[in-house]
Amino acid sequence: MTDQNNDRVFIFDTTLRDGEQCPGASMTFEEKLEVADVLDALGVDIMEAGFPIASQGDFESVSEIARRVKNASVAGLSRAQAKDIDRCAEAVKHARIPRIHTFISTSPVHMRYKLQMEPAKVLELIASSVSRARNHVEFVEWSAEDGTRTEPDFLCRAVETAINAGATTINIPDTVGYTTPDEYRALFEMVRARVPNADKAIFSVHCHNDLGLAVANSIAGVRGGARQIECTINGIGERAGNAALEEIVMALKTRADVLPFTNRIETTLLNRASKLVSAVTSFPVQYNKSIVGRNAFAHESGIHQDGMLKNAHTYEIMTPESVGVSKTSLVMGKHSGRHAFKEKLKELGYDLGDNGLEVAFTRFKDLADRKKIVYDEDIVALVDDEIANARERIRVVALSVMAGTKAPQSAALTLEIDGEQKTQQATGNGPVDAIFNAIRALVPHDAKLQLFQVHAVTEGTDAQAEVSVRLSDGDAVSAGKGADPDTLVASARAYVSALNKVFARRARGGVAAVAAL
Ligand code: KIV
Ligand code: ZN
Repeated sequence: MTDQNNDRVFIFDTTLRDGEQCPGASMTFEEKLEVADVLDALGVDIMEAGFPIASQGDFESVSEIARRVKNASVAGLSRAQAKDIDRCAEAVKHARIPRIHTFISTSPVHMRYKLQMEPAKVLELIASSVSRARNHVEFVEWSAEDGTRTEPDFLCRAVETAINAGATTINIPDTVGYTTPDEYRALFEMVRARVPNADKAIFSVHCHNDLGLAVANSIAGVRGGARQIECTINGIGERAGNAALEEIVMALKTRADVLPFTNRIETTLLNRASKLVSAVTSFPVQYNKSIVGRNAFAHESGIHQDGMLKNAHTYEIMTPESVGVSKTSLVMGKHSGRHAFKEKLKELGYDLGDNGLEVAFTRFKDLADRKKIVYDEDIVALVDDEIANARERIRVVALSVMAGTKAPQSAALTLEIDGEQKTQQATGNGPVDAIFNAIRALVPHDAKLQLFQVHAVTEGTDAQAEVSVRLSDGDAVSAGKGADPDTLVASARAYVSALNKVFARRARGGVAAVAAL
């Protein structure tokens, strides 16, 4: 693993740590396991499963992921403190290949204001934290937080210290998304040339997207000698996010002629991974997002369609199938049977098992009765909604609403709460307000509504509505989604889904105990 001249690039996914850490993207325990399973099937080399010292919930999800993941190495993040490292070691110890990822800031601004430490103290902590981690596991990654704004001489001394202490991977993150491709490439070339023991570690890139350069910078870092790329599905992460895994992998695959680097990602699962991460975080994927946006392979204009019909190469640099988007779509409607529905689910990457299939099929039939054509997007929204619903403590059973010009609008809502059905009438300033008031009366809570957003899954007035709701609970934000042809039912489902996450999060150890990185 120490030859920098070979062309194998390791994919380090941090969707469950850097991605999950950003406001509003929190996932429940079960959702994290589901994402971990898809990441493992996708073929990531390392998955960073969380930050075990942050909360009991993080610790438990990292431990469970470490136990269940079959192929990937499982990493946990830890600060340069003994208690963080020991907790992290405990969490990853059952992984097939456990890794401790420890970090400390090295830039002047971070050392002076955030850490309030002298550089000599930082070097001391690098040596002690890395060697402590090495006493626990064979693979230790050390990161120079704010590496791209670190003074070069000090960065080289820090890297040398970490490698001497036993670090097997050295990550130089662009924490604030500030660098440019040329600069980042030169940084890796400089460090690898100047640090005497550089050949004893793999170098890693970790780029944030504040200037929209995260993917370009990551690839430039690889050209400078890095052989590990840290990235997230859909590019989720702090602020403007991290480098998007799907974009990096498809850039390497599509332009292998000029980027001769290999990895073991099964690209046909990229679309499924994107959909899952979007569903569990309630972060929509922008329509024109590269690789996984719904327009990424759509050819609307007449000239483009004409060219495509003559030869797909005219406007297509990669096939939709190569990222898991099927062209040979079965059109679904009210005459479609169980078998066709099952095939469609397979095509969309779902395996629901017999019971799940039955429930989803009933909802599909109901939808098909109300809507002439059921598009793939409708089925994805419906199934994701059903998957989320199936494991929730609180579920929407029935809703009727009085809306119109005469105020106040009112709602009668029945919820199933821990298996028991309860009904409540409430009024409000509009039907959505009335529904949310009914939920608050049935399930008293102090979480605050932070976002309410509606979008149509497909075109037409009979389109399903997909509603996103975010609730803030102290420092934590929980997001929920609901889908239904009736916008008000979708609203109730979305609120209840977010509320379930608030309770799940509280039950699993509350909000993150560690200050934001
Ligand atoms: O962006 C960053 O610097 C990080 C480190 C903890 C690796 O996420
Ligand atoms: Zn980061």
